[in-house]
Amino acid sequence: MSQKHANYPSLAGRTVFVTGGGGGIGAATVAAFAAQGARVGFCDIQPAPSKKLVAQIEARGQTALFAECDLRDIAALRAAMAAVRAKFGPITILINNAAHDDRHDFLSVTPEYWDDRIAVNLKHAYFAAQAAIPDMRAAGGGAIVNFGSVSWMSGSADLSAYATAKSAAHGLTRVLAREFGPDNIRVNCVVPGWIMTERQIEKWLTPEGEKLIDERQCLKRKLVPDDIARTVLFLASDEAGAITNQTLIADGGWV
Ligand SMILES: NC(=O)c1ccc[n+]([C@@H]2O[C@H](COP(=O)([O-])OP(=O)(O)OC[C@H]3O[C@@H](n4cnc5c(N)ncnc54)[C@H](O)[C@@H]3O)[C@@H](O)[C@H]2O)c1
Repeated sequence: MSQKHANYPSLAGRTVFVTGGGGGIGAATVAAFAAQGARVGFCDIQPAPSKKLVAQIEARGQTALFAECDLRDIAALRAAMAAVRAKFGPITILINNAAHDDRHDFLSVTPEYWDDRIAVNLKHAYFAAQAAIPDMRAAGGGAIVNFGSVSWMSGSADLSAYATAKSAAHGLTRVLAREFGPDNIRVNCVVPGWIMTERQIEKWLTPEGEKLIDERQCLKRKLVPDDIARTVLFLASDEAGAITNQTLIADGGWV
């Protein structure tokens, strides 16, 4: 992240947990928190890029810990969070980033595939919050950032189970913000637009896609993972101390 971007003193020394931190927006978010002096733990299913990310962060004299897990397994997710807590102390910032946006034809979705989509796109966010909130309560407060998606707002097709899970992130945000506001725990939802992660570029950035960005976004540039990481930093920091129960769309004005 460039030197010209903001520094948030309230993030220094905090223990942060990021789901799916080994790639894409998650990796940019892990690096951004580490650059703020936070102690960042993250889980991912992909050990090689995750370990590389930790090595890059440590080479800068910053702090990160990778706990490998498939977060469709809630026991494994809890164990990953416990490992981060044991090393860095109570988790007071939780970034529910992980998801998997594979396309699917509505009429072909089986109950098993549906369950798997909900497990990779929604269920873990609920249980990660359940695991972190006692730490936040004991610490006198905390921040949770859930991840939605503009896909269901902009009317994308071929993503019905993913979009159903992503729209639920908004509802989860609203109930947790209400339930744990008295504990000074802020809960918000970031809604990325089309962000140029490696996966998006490899799988879906066609000349037609480029044209669509030009037509649909107000801002005529490709959005990148750091755009979202910076939004997340702000929401997690004390600068956003009065902001909870909100959805913040960071899509360059697509929807
Ligand atoms: N990139 C976009 O255009 C876009 C648009 C809208 C919303 N989003 C949202 O932003 C968030 C991040 O998306 P992204 O584009 O960076 O995704 P990505 O696919 O690039 O990265 C997701 C990360 O999660 C990890 N992961 C996937 N399944 C896992 C599992 N079972 N267990 C543990 N880790 C797992 C992956 O290994 C990867 O490192 C998601 O919530 C997504 O829905 C992204």
